[in-house]
Amino acid sequence: MSIIEAKHLTKTYQVFRKQEGLLGSVKGLFKREYKTVEAVRDVRFSIEKGEMVAFLGANGAGKTTTLKLLSGLIHPSSGEATVLGHVPWKRENAYRRRFSLVMGQKNQLWWDLPAVESFRLHQEIYRIDRQVYDRRLDELTSLLEVKPLIRQAVRELSLGERMRMELIAALLHAPEVLLLDEPTIGLDVVSQRRVQEFLKYYQQSQQITVILTSHYMKDVQALCKRAIIISGGTLRYDGPLAELVERFSQYKLLSLQFAGDFDVAEMAGYGRVIEHVPPRVKLEVPRHNLPELLSHLLAKYTIEDLEVQERPLEDVIAEVFIEAKATAQRSSDSE
Ligand SMILES: Nc1ncnc2c1ncn2[C@@H]1O[C@H](COP(=O)(O)OP(=O)(O)O)[C@@H](O)[C@H]1O
Ligand SMILES: [Mg+2]
Repeated sequence: MSIIEAKHLTKTYQVFRKQEGLLGSVKGLFKREYKTVEAVRDVRFSIEKGEMVAFLGANGAGKTTTLKLLSGLIHPSSGEATVLGHVPWKRENAYRRRFSLVMGQKNQLWWDLPAVESFRLHQEIYRIDRQVYDRRLDELTSLLEVKPLIRQAVRELSLGERMRMELIAALLHAPEVLLLDEPTIGLDVVSQRRVQEFLKYYQQSQQITVILTSHYMKDVQALCKRAIIISGGTLRYDGPLAELVERFSQYKLLSLQFAGDFDVAEMAGYGRVIEHVPPRVKLEVPRHNLPELLSHLLAKYTIEDLEVQERPLEDVIAEVFIEAKATAQRSSDSE
């Protein structure tokens, strides 16, 4: 049986549409116009026990809304979902004890108190046996390397430390399902790695089921085998992450800053020109050509600065989106 199941899940919001300009604002006082935003539309997926699935999409794609639905924070406009056999928005206590939602941009801990005070409150709320609580707290704080910090006021902690405390709070009751919404957003590379490693270890040792949204391809690559891509509230891809990663890593972004003049038309021979703001140019180049390309460029031009980057996850997602559209078009053409 699937642990998480969503069918035709849809959530629409009515938002006030402000008319433009002063006249519009005045009109708005008398007659409010609303428009409907389909945050999530007809989403369906099914996740098995012990899976760790990446849930990807650009800003505003509907990721957080989906996780809120699965947590029962909001009701769907239509459609169904079950998590561990529970309908989330029924908000049964029995369900609350079995899952956790962590939002990277939201604080659940008391700001002015040491984290351990919030942990104790969780112990009370979830009625965790004292010995079990002590053992879990000890394990989690050592895995996340924050043992000396739990008695310090949360507001004095760094963002990375705070995020690790949030994770501890979320895991003290040993949830079977963990929903992670951008858990590493804004973290420095070191903290990001630490959270990543922890999640990997913890998920494997506990065999919990996890949905992870993240903007960082590194997180996703380190942790997930399967990816679901959502765009404009609709599912666009559900399949092996490896396929996405391959597409993702075929190209790199090369930024160059020239000391003098250069011919941008010539640059197009090296790769796809993404940005051209003299004396800088940004190219998308095939990864396997990069070393050769660089030595060419350095021999021919005076280059003041250069940088090689991964392509942003958004670009890859956009590509998948375009391809899915093209495939759908082709199959409807051939009908
Ligand atoms: N409470 C709300 N009221 C109105 N619109 C909302 C609300 N929450 C989300 N939306 C809209 O729904 C869409 C999806 O949002 P969200 O799920 O937060 O996306 P993501 O997490 O992928 O960035 C966006 O267009 C957003 O503006
Ligand atoms: Mg979000």
